[in-house]
Amino acid sequence: MELNKMQDGIDSWETAMFLYNSALKEVGTKLEILNDEFAHIHNYNPIEYIKSRIKTPESIVKKLKRGGYEICIDNMIRHVNDIAGIRLVCSFTSDIYRLSDMIGKQNDLTVVSVKDYIKNPKESGYKSFHMLVTVPIFLSDRVVDTKVEIQIRTIAMDFWASLEHKIYYKFEGNAPDYISRDLRECANIVANLDAKMLQLNRAILEAKENQAINQAVKQEAYKAG
Ligand code: GTP
Ligand code: MG
Repeated sequence: MELNKMQDGIDSWETAMFLYNSALKEVGTKLEILNDEFAHIHNYNPIEYIKSRIKTPESIVKKLKRGGYEICIDNMIRHVNDIAGIRLVCSFTSDIYRLSDMIGKQNDLTVVSVKDYIKNPKESGYKSFHMLVTVPIFLSDRVVDTKVEIQIRTIAMDFWASLEHKIYYKFEGNAPDYISRDLRECANIVANLDAKMLQLNRAILEAKENQAINQAVKQEAYKAG
């Protein structure tokens, strides 16, 4: 990749990739700690699993070209926001908003933008919650705020997105209408499943709470004689 103007003194591909890799580690660890703390306090894990990846050089170049930008390090840093990407997969839609709140409250992360494709799904049917954040990377002589894209979705949304991506890839974006329609229909089925699972989870929690209350009342009655 040709070297051009520099941003934050980042003048090489290696330095840029080093920063993105460091940012992935920082944010990944942070999220694991939040998940562990939540489990410690509430006995429950909001994150089922975390996947992270660095965008390939080919995809970076493709994205720059698509955006009409000259291929250089500076444009890559400025315009490609998902070079470092982390995906948080959770059980219920309620976990998504809980996690995004927790992330927003982290003092050392700056939330640059948020896209709620759950409230406003994409034309394709795609649902997920996206946050673009920056994390400060402390080098020996300076601090560089580095971008990380966080995608938060349920297992069901992840299932749909993975399969849709595979199917669409085969058609290189030109899938026949009926396929796109069927994929949107599948997205609705997945959304219904998520809603049903959330409802079921709430019902289970309520039933357990009632059971505990009944037991406590019985114990009190027994003690009273
Ligand atoms: P790109 O889509 O990456 O060019 O960036 P953008 O600025 O349009 O961001 P956007 O928030 O739309 O999407 C970023 C990422 O979300 C993508 O790289 C995918 O991982 C995911 N994504 C967005 N739309 C879809 C979709 O229709 N299907 C699938 N499977 N994934 C999607
Ligand atoms: Mg897009």
